[in-house]
Amino acid sequence: MPRLIGADGRYELKVGGKPYLILGAQVNNSSNYPAMLPEVWPAMSDVDANTVVMPIAWEQIEPTENQYNFSFLDLFLKQARQHHLHAIILWFATWKNGGPQYAPSWVKLDNRRFPRMVNRQGQPVYSLSPLAKTTLDADRSAFVALMRHLRAVDPQHTVIMVQVENETGTWGAVRDYSARADRLFDGPVPRRLVRALHLRRGTWRQVFGEKAGEFFHAWNIARFVDKVAAAGKAVYPLPMYVNAALRDPFHPGPPITYESGGPTNDALPVWKVAAPAINLIGPDIYMPDSRRYFKVLQQYHLADNPLFVSETGSSVVYARYLFATLGHQGIGFSPFGIDYTGYSNFPLGARRIDPRTLAPFALEYHLIRPMDSLLARLSFQGRLHAVSEPDDAHAQIVKLGRWEARVSYNMPAFGNTPDARARPLEGGALIAQLGPNEFLVTGVHVRVSFALTQPRSNQFMILDRVVQGTYHHGTWQFMRLWNGDETDWGLNFTSIPQVLHVHLATY
Ligand code: DGJ
Repeated sequence: MPRLIGADGRYELKVGGKPYLILGAQVNNSSNYPAMLPEVWPAMSDVDANTVVMPIAWEQIEPTENQYNFSFLDLFLKQARQHHLHAIILWFATWKNGGPQYAPSWVKLDNRRFPRMVNRQGQPVYSLSPLAKTTLDADRSAFVALMRHLRAVDPQHTVIMVQVENETGTWGAVRDYSARADRLFDGPVPRRLVRALHLRRGTWRQVFGEKAGEFFHAWNIARFVDKVAAAGKAVYPLPMYVNAALRDPFHPGPPITYESGGPTNDALPVWKVAAPAINLIGPDIYMPDSRRYFKVLQQYHLADNPLFVSETGSSVVYARYLFATLGHQGIGFSPFGIDYTGYSNFPLGARRIDPRTLAPFALEYHLIRPMDSLLARLSFQGRLHAVSEPDDAHAQIVKLGRWEARVSYNMPAFGNTPDARARPLEGGALIAQLGPNEFLVTGVHVRVSFALTQPRSNQFMILDRVVQGTYHHGTWQFMRLWNGDETDWGLNFTSIPQVLHVHLATY
């Protein structure tokens, strides 16, 4: 059974009893039909993903109330296995980007039975109210049916994790302003929440001030999602997560211009208390600049939250952020919109999805896949370091105890004159500590140079042995030693996948 385990604030996803790194690729939103699968598999193969991320829509499995149809899921699993892929499924139901568009017609058109939220002016909002028990019951029943079916048809655990709902929250209204919601909002904050956050009791406004409306909405959505997830886990306990539509990490407002009530970084403590059945909250990162990207990784890599980049852009600049994600002890990374159906979410992602677009992602997945389980294990042990090229390509120092590594970009293979040619931002380096003086080193478009952190006088670092090799299913195989030109100017990585074991010494 796939499991997410944690110790000392670090995490590991275990699949088939072994550490697993999600090198994922999420298909486009409407690729969840049999006719689209032939356009999915070639893209998965071109990007060299180990995990396909696929929506399963409520409208698709329960078009008529209580009549289920899992034929797409069955076909998808069969073909995923044929392509030697694991899968993550996404439950598109009461919330898909805040709205119930993926709920069946009998739900989304029946506002009486499944009430919508009401805004401050008393008008209906596109989001369904998280307070309606009818909606919770219907969503939960369908999700339980899905998990029960999955348990029956997936004894080999092709599906390793499930996302519950998609980008929950509401754009344009801070909370539900229906009469019932107002009554609850004027009442006390649940004891469980004030206790866990070490706050004094009071009404939402008294306890949370200007954040009251947003946190009230977050609490109600998270409670709803938790009940759906918990019921699903009761029949089939796969790891479960939610994804977040982000707020700008540096200019979050007010005003609230983001999806209120979703697991934005400010609401993470509320979500964590409200939704214990959710194993992790993943950021959907569509911010191409490194300053904001790095900040979001920090915000979602927490002692109580394993980092999984649940979605990210498909354009070239995003590929390198796999390294920074691994540097934040990430358990996985998954660019969005990866299939050849012809759709692309440009300008959020690349203009076209074709093998050329996928190449920078493929380069990294190809480099990492043969040692993915090893890296996941080293990461769980706190021995993995990785960084991505910042927008201004400045050099970074990675501290490794007695040693440190300088990671620099735009450096040539020979000499120290930076290479001025224009190049997309694609660099990244990964360094894993294998022993006191031994490191696994790899990267793309990057130079890695080692030094002593605090050299004593007349003490100098020397590269004892730089071994190039390959991993075959985690087993190291020697190819050659690097020496001479190959090491005189640091260890230079290009777009050729190369892995080194570096033995450091002093003289
Ligand atoms: C984030 C959502 O979670 C995805 O399903 C998709 O709508 C992208 N935004 C935009 O392509």
